[in-house]
Amino acid sequence: MPEEWVDWHRNYEEDPSMGARLREVQSQIRAALDRAPSGPFRVVSACAGDGRDLLGALVDHPRRDDVRALLIELSPTLVAAGRARVRSMGVTGVEFAQGDAGESNAYLGSVPANLVLLCGVFGNITDEDLRNTVDHAPELCAPGATVIWTRGRFAPDLTPTIRRWFHDAGFEELSFSTIVGSTKSVGVHRLVRPPPPFRPGTRLFTFLPEEERPSHRSGSRVSRASKRPLSRARRARRARSAKTPARP
Ligand SMILES: C[S@@+](CC[C@H](N)C(=O)[O-])C[C@H]1O[C@@H](n2cnc3c(N)ncnc32)[C@H](O)[C@@H]1O
Repeated sequence: MPEEWVDWHRNYEEDPSMGARLREVQSQIRAALDRAPSGPFRVVSACAGDGRDLLGALVDHPRRDDVRALLIELSPTLVAAGRARVRSMGVTGVEFAQGDAGESNAYLGSVPANLVLLCGVFGNITDEDLRNTVDHAPELCAPGATVIWTRGRFAPDLTPTIRRWFHDAGFEELSFSTIVGSTKSVGVHRLVRPPPPFRPGTRLFTFLPEEERPSHRSGSRVSRASKRPLSRARRARRARSAKTPARP
C-alpha cells in the first residue's frame, strides 16, 4: 500500500490545486513559527509523505535551526526522498521515522509539539477515526500548539463537522481556507485549553483501502494520478523503471 503514495506525490507537479494547497500549508507553518516565542520549536507530522510542506516552509526561514521535527511516514521511498532533502538543506533538527503514524507510540519522545501537521490524512480514514484523531490531538500538543490539517470538501462535506470537533476538543480556529478550483481545504487550529497528558498505546486512525477512502469520492487522489494521461516525462520514467530488472 505505501508505494501507491509515491505516485500520488507526482500530483504535486501536475495538479495546480495541489501546489496551491501546499503553498497554503507552508504559509501556515511559517506563521506558526513566526508567532512562537524564541527557543526550540517542536513539530510532529503524521503521514508526512516526503515532507515537502515542512521542508519547503523552512528553506529560508530565519528560525529553521530552532525546529525539532519528527516526520512519520510509512513509505520507505518517501522517507528516503525526505531524508535526502533534509541532508541537502543542511538542517539538523528534522528527522524522518518510517512507521505507523496511526499509533501514538510513534510520537514518543517528540511530543508535546508546538505544531502538529495532519495533512493528507483526514480523507483517507473513517469519520469515526477522524473524530478520534481530533479528540486525541491535544495529547500531542504543547500549550498553545497549532494543528494544521487538510480535507477535501467533496459531498457530503465533512469540514463543518471537523471544525466543530476541533472546537469541542479545546481548539480555536485560526483560519480555514479553500483552494479555488478544487474541493481542497486547509484548517488551522490552536489549542486554548491546558493539554492533557500524552497517552502511549493509543490507536488514532487506520488508513482505509483506496476504494473505501472518503477521498475516493472526490475523483482525485491516487486513482486520479494513475488514470490521467501520462505526461511525456512520466511515460519515460515508467518505461525506464519497467526496464530495470528487479533486485534479487
Ligand atoms: C495523502 S498523502 C499525504 C502526504 C503529505 N502529508 C502531504 O500532504 O503531502 C498520505 C501519506 O500517508 C502515508 N501513510 C499511509 N498510512 C500511513 C500510516 N499508517 N502511517 C504513516 N504514514 C502513512 C502514505 O504513504 C502517504 O505518503
